[in-house]
Amino acid sequence: MQVDTKQKLSSTSVWLHWIIAIMIIGLLIVGVYMEENEVYRLYPIHKSLGVIVFGFVILRVIWRIKNGWPQTIGQQAQLLQLVSKIVHYVLIIGTVLMPISGMLMSGMGGHGINVFGLELLATNPDPLDPNKVLPLNEELAKAGHRMHGVVGNIMFAAIALHIAGALKHHFIDKDGILKRMLGKQVDDK
Ligand code: HEM
Ligand code: HEM
Repeated sequence: MQVDTKQKLSSTSVWLHWIIAIMIIGLLIVGVYMEENEVYRLYPIHKSLGVIVFGFVILRVIWRIKNGWPQTIGQQAQLLQLVSKIVHYVLIIGTVLMPISGMLMSGMGGHGINVFGLELLATNPDPLDPNKVLPLNEELAKAGHRMHGVVGNIMFAAIALHIAGALKHHFIDKDGILKRMLGKQVDDK
């Protein structure tokens, strides 16, 4: 299997980065929109895609552990390199925590977990009122809910910093960092 080098990232790294990036940005925006406006028909789509992205996230974490992180290219101040590293860790850990907290909130809340109709965890209907559900564990559901909100906000901030960094590399430093994440071969200057 192809591995990351300084001049070229593996297609595994590039594909996983962009699939996860697009899905996470979409889920963050849809999440806030559906919650604030109480658009309940979006909930099953949000939850299904959230579970699916978890599969890609696990593959990426395994890939990063096996393959290491891409090495930086170009000249960067030490402090900026450190900030970028921290942001990468926040992003990758955030992508693990968001689906886990979401599944905890829905699953333990009694709403069940299903991926476009494929049931992974059944709902827990209230025997007294079939239109309602009973929580399996209210404390865990609440903790999941809180974590989903807090980590979601941290991710918005981290992604803004991350995109600003990518644009700085491309337009100001004019190095190959962004092109390399688009799968192109670059000079190691
Ligand atoms: C990486 C994946 C995910 C991201 C980035 C994400 C993001 C978000 C965000 C930003 C919100 C709004 C939170 C707020 O405004 O406080 C939200 C709400 C929600 N998410 Fe997720 N989510 C993900 C996965 C999941 C999963 C897997 C589930 C469940 C299986 C889920 C269930 C929910 C529910 C039920 C709400 C609404 C909560 C409410 O109405 O109070 N999410 N999500
Ligand atoms: C338009 C949006 C985005 C752009 C332009 C972008 C650009 C980049 C670039 C150029 C790199 C390479 C950095 C390097 O070589 O040191 C990178 C790496 C990375 N990005 Fe993004 N990114 C975006 C969105 C996201 C999102 C939404 C996430 C997280 C959910 C994310 C997570 C990461 C991580 C963890 C890395 C480290 C390398 C890896 O594991 O793939 N990015 N990004």
